[in-house]
Amino acid sequence: MTSASRVLLGGPVALVTAYDRGHANVLPIAWHTPLSANPPLVGIAIEQSRHSADVIGHSEQFAINIPARRLLHHVQYLGGLTGARVDKFEVTQLETFTATHVDAPLLTGCLAWVECEVRQVVPLGDHLLFVGLVVAVHVDPTAFDDRWLLQSPDQRPLQFLGDHYYSVMDGVIEARMPGSSDAPERVLQDRMDEDLELTHEAQERRADAVGQLQREVDAGNVVDISQLGGASGVPWAPPPGFRLPELPPRP
Ligand SMILES: Cc1cc2nc3c(=O)[nH]c(=O)nc-3n(C[C@H](O)[C@H](O)[C@H](O)COP(=O)(O)O)c2cc1C
Repeated sequence: MTSASRVLLGGPVALVTAYDRGHANVLPIAWHTPLSANPPLVGIAIEQSRHSADVIGHSEQFAINIPARRLLHHVQYLGGLTGARVDKFEVTQLETFTATHVDAPLLTGCLAWVECEVRQVVPLGDHLLFVGLVVAVHVDPTAFDDRWLLQSPDQRPLQFLGDHYYSVMDGVIEARMPGSSDAPERVLQDRMDEDLELTHEAQERRADAVGQLQREVDAGNVVDISQLGGASGVPWAPPPGFRLPELPPRP
């Protein structure tokens, strides 16, 4: 059965750290949410049997670390280990630094960090909702400035899709509002049509550029693939059917 939790997944994956009685622990979570702006409250849902539920329940503190793309494999690996049996910091050698308000360590290689004190624990089915009062927030300013900037590929948070699949946010797009004197349904439809046209046009331009390059390659000329554009920071890959030039044999 399709689960609502999978359909609703989409916020940045978090690594939640906590510290209790001499031991630190970390687990990846996808079920977290803002709950109140004033006071600032966030919720994390932890399955009742998890070691982290004990650690956070006892210490009444936790930190939410938002990992960058490069920690993808750490995230998945940490989700398969329990702090009840292994010291996850020892096995992964993840680097940490000291938080400002809580004992939970903060993880290097992340893009944002939210320190929380537990205000309430709400049992909900098989999970516990830990409601945390936000006591400090830190961000990497090259990745986040009042919103995710999504510039270089490694400055984008990961999103969990389920199993061992993830995605990264592609880039920033801006929504434009109809003016107060516009008929909203017409302006909104026009904007949708404009976007669709742009998508078609961009695809056609790219197909033309690829065709032109192919002719140059076939004629044995040196080509400049930068004119193909593509998503920023993503290495160019030959499109399907593109025949790369044959290199001369090494002397
Ligand atoms: C990407 C990802 C997201 C996860 N999200 C949650 C979550 O929201 N809540 C939860 O209880 N477990 C979640 N898990 C599972 C725990 O991270 C996993 O069971 C972990 O090993 C528990 O560690 P612990 O026993 O040290 O607490 C997730 C795992 C992965 C890989």
